[in-house]
Amino acid sequence: MIDLDAARAILRSNDLGGYTVPTRGLYPFQWNWDSAIIALGWHCFDEGRAWHEARTMFDGQWDNGLLPHILFHSDSDSYFPGSEVWGANSRIPSSTVSQPPVWALAIAMMLDRSKASAAARAEVEALLPKLLAHHRWWYRDRDLGKSGLVETYHPWESGMDNSPAWDAPLARVPRVEWEYQRRDLGHVDECQRPSHGEYDRYLYLIEFLKHNHADPRRMSTSSPFRVVDLTIVSILHRATRELVSLCQQFGLDSAIPDLEVQLARTRAAMSGCWSEDHRCFLNRDKVSGTPLAERTTASLLPLFGLLASERQASQMASLIEEWLAASRFSLASTHPESPRYEPTCYWRGPVWLHINWMIADGLTAYGYDDLAREVRAQSIKCIEAAGGYFEYYGSETGEGCGGGEFSWTAAVALFWLAGE
Ligand code: GLC
Repeated sequence: MIDLDAARAILRSNDLGGYTVPTRGLYPFQWNWDSAIIALGWHCFDEGRAWHEARTMFDGQWDNGLLPHILFHSDSDSYFPGSEVWGANSRIPSSTVSQPPVWALAIAMMLDRSKASAAARAEVEALLPKLLAHHRWWYRDRDLGKSGLVETYHPWESGMDNSPAWDAPLARVPRVEWEYQRRDLGHVDECQRPSHGEYDRYLYLIEFLKHNHADPRRMSTSSPFRVVDLTIVSILHRATRELVSLCQQFGLDSAIPDLEVQLARTRAAMSGCWSEDHRCFLNRDKVSGTPLAERTTASLLPLFGLLASERQASQMASLIEEWLAASRFSLASTHPESPRYEPTCYWRGPVWLHINWMIADGLTAYGYDDLAREVRAQSIKCIEAAGGYFEYYGSETGEGCGGGEFSWTAAVALFWLAGE
C-alpha cells in the first residue's frame, strides 16, 4: 500500500518557504530537476504551492538563460561544496552548471492538470519567456557546433553523478590537491556514495568552470570532462516539444520555428548514438569522440524523449524485459550484467523512481503498456519493501538507500503511482 498522507507530509516538512529541499541535511537547498518533479507532486494537493516552487526556481535564472543546478537560498553547514566554491556571480548564489531540463514538461503537465484555469494560465504566461530562455541557453551555449546533441561539463549536471558511464571520461580529470571535508558522509553510509577519487575530480571540474567563468567557448574546447549525456538530450527534446505546444497555446508563434530546427537536429543526430549490439542508445565521450559503452538507464531515456524509431523502441523493449528480470527490484540504474553494477551504490545500480516514471512513460508512448505497468509495479514494490520514500532503493533487496523522507520520490508517488 502506498501511503499518500506520508508523501504529502514529506513535501510539507521539506518545504522551506517557496522551495522544497530534496531532503533535510544531505541536500539543504533547491535542486533544479528535483524541484520540477516536486512541483508535480505539490500540484496534486496544493496547486498554488506548485506554481510557487516554479517561480522560486526561475528567480534564480541567470541573465543568459542558464537555470542553475543548485540555488543556495540560505547558508547551511550540512552540505559541501557551497556557493563560495562555485564562485558564481549571480543574484541568488548558485552553482554554475544546470541539470536535466524537466521544467517545460512539468509546467505543461501542471497546466493540463489545472484544466488550464485562469490562475494556471497566468502562471504559464509569466514563466514562458523564462522557459524559452532556458531552452535557448542549452541549444546556444551547449551545442556550439550545432550538432543537435548538447554537451555536459560536469557529472552533476547529468543528475547521474557517479554513473559508470562517466568512469572513463572522469578518469582523465585531475584530482584537486587541497584538503576538504565531505559533508555527505555525515548523513549516508560511505558505500552508498561516490568515492573520494570521484569527489576530488568533481571539485576539480568546479574549479575549472570557475577559472574559465563557465565560458561556453572555453568549456567546449578545453574542459577535461565533456560528454553527450542522453538523460539531458532526451529530456531536452521532450520538454522542447512541450514548449512548442505552450508557445502555440499562448500566441508565441514567432518562437516556434527556431525550436523546430533544434528538434529536427536532435532527431537527425540520434542515429549516431544508437548501438545495434547493445540494443539501446549510448552516451558519448566528446573528448575521445567515442561512445561510452555502458548500459545505464540514460540509455533508455530516448524513449521518454520520443527519439527512438519504432524499430529501435522494439529492440529496447526486449532489452528492458531482460533488464527488469535481471534484479529483484527494478529498473536497476546500471544493467545488472555490467561488471560495474553495484546494487546499493547511488547511480551504479539502485532503482530511482523518477527515472522509472520517465521510462514507463516512454514505454507507454511507444505502445508497450504491459512493460510500462511492470515498471510501475516495481516502483510500488520498492516503496513497500523499504517502508517509505527514499532517495533510491537497493536493486537486489529493495532497501531504502541514501537520504530518507525524500521529496522527489514522494512526489512521484503522488502524481504517478497514485493514479489509475
Ligand atoms: C544527487 C543526485 C541528483 C539530485 C541531487 C538532489 O546529486 O545525483 O540527481 O538532483 O542529489 O536530490
